[in-house]
Order: sequence, then structure tokens, then C-alpha cells
Amino acid sequence: MTIREILKMGDARLLRTAQPVTEFDSDALHLLITDMLDTMLAADGAGLAAPQIGVDLQLVIFGTNTRNPRYPDAPPVPKTVLINPVITPLAASEEDSTLLEIEDWEGCLSVPGLRAAVPRFSRIRYTGFDQFGDPIDRIAEGFHARVVQHECDHLIGKLYPMRVRDFSRFGYTSVLFPGLDAPQDD
Ligand code: NI
Repeated sequence: MTIREILKMGDARLLRTAQPVTEFDSDALHLLITDMLDTMLAADGAGLAAPQIGVDLQLVIFGTNTRNPRYPDAPPVPKTVLINPVITPLAASEEDSTLLEIEDWEGCLSVPGLRAAVPRFSRIRYTGFDQFGDPIDRIAEGFHARVVQHECDHLIGKLYPMRVRDFSRFGYTSVLFPGLDAPQDD
């Protein structure tokens, strides 16, 4: 197991548009995913994108246990390896065709110590492939949809502060959420 260094905001490698994965089920891909899972687990992350460890590929992993210390109130999200993803925003419901955006708190392992309220589509469809090249096609809402949008933003060089609209709701985790047992560097 290898825990890789997570790049921090300011590193130009976080601003690239990532390249599509062209070879599936390869030793190199499986090794990369193992390293990403180890790295995410060690950091108590809810997700991690390959560019965050300096790998310029369209690959994200995400998923939470029933209780993640960094997001104690978040519902579980299925453990997922998502490659070459495409996100389509969906209307909030069958009756109302409006695309709904909701603000909620986000952090990022590349932006340690901070949180902000970030607007995200409330409901999305996401497609892509797993590490074996098998297709993934899901509809997600709430925290699940938020995590997918956050991670996939890393593949187009976007960090969540670039999405913040209300900077009065951007600050240090330890100040905003003094009771949260998140690590000091997050
Ligand atoms: Ni992030």
C-alpha cells in the first residue's frame, strides 16, 4: 500500500484538463486505483481525483462509510471508481423541469483546513466506466450528487473555491465547525 502525496491548491497540476483513460483492466490502472484508495482512506476523504496526486487522467474515486469523521452528517455514498465521466444535470423532479442548485458545505483534501458553501445541481445523471471498462450509469441526488460533481470538477481543473458565490460562507473548518473531529490539516 502506498499513500501518495496530495497536491494542494496553487499547484498548477490541479488546473489541467485531464486526459481520458484509454486502457482498462491494466496492472498500471489497478495499482493507481489501489494507491488512490489508500490515500483517500488515510486522509478520511469522501473522494479523490487522480489529478490530486498529480496523475493527469480522468479518474475519480468516491464513497463514504456510514460515518465519515470529516462529514459526520452525510448519508453513505456507494464506493465507486469512475473513469471518463460525463455528468448531466437533471430536473429536481418529474413535475418541475427547473434545474435546481443547492448550496451546502464542502471541503477538499487539496484545500486543507477550509470549508465553503458551494452551489451544486441537486440531481444529476452520471455515466462513465469502472476500472474493468464496464459502463456505469446512475442517477444521484443530494450529497451523492455533490460528491460526484466535486470530484469530476477536479478533472477540468476546477477546485471548489472557484464555484463559491457567497464568500461570507467560506472559512476555516475549525472556526465554522468547532465540534467537528476532523484532522487539523483538513
Ligand atoms: Ni476535492
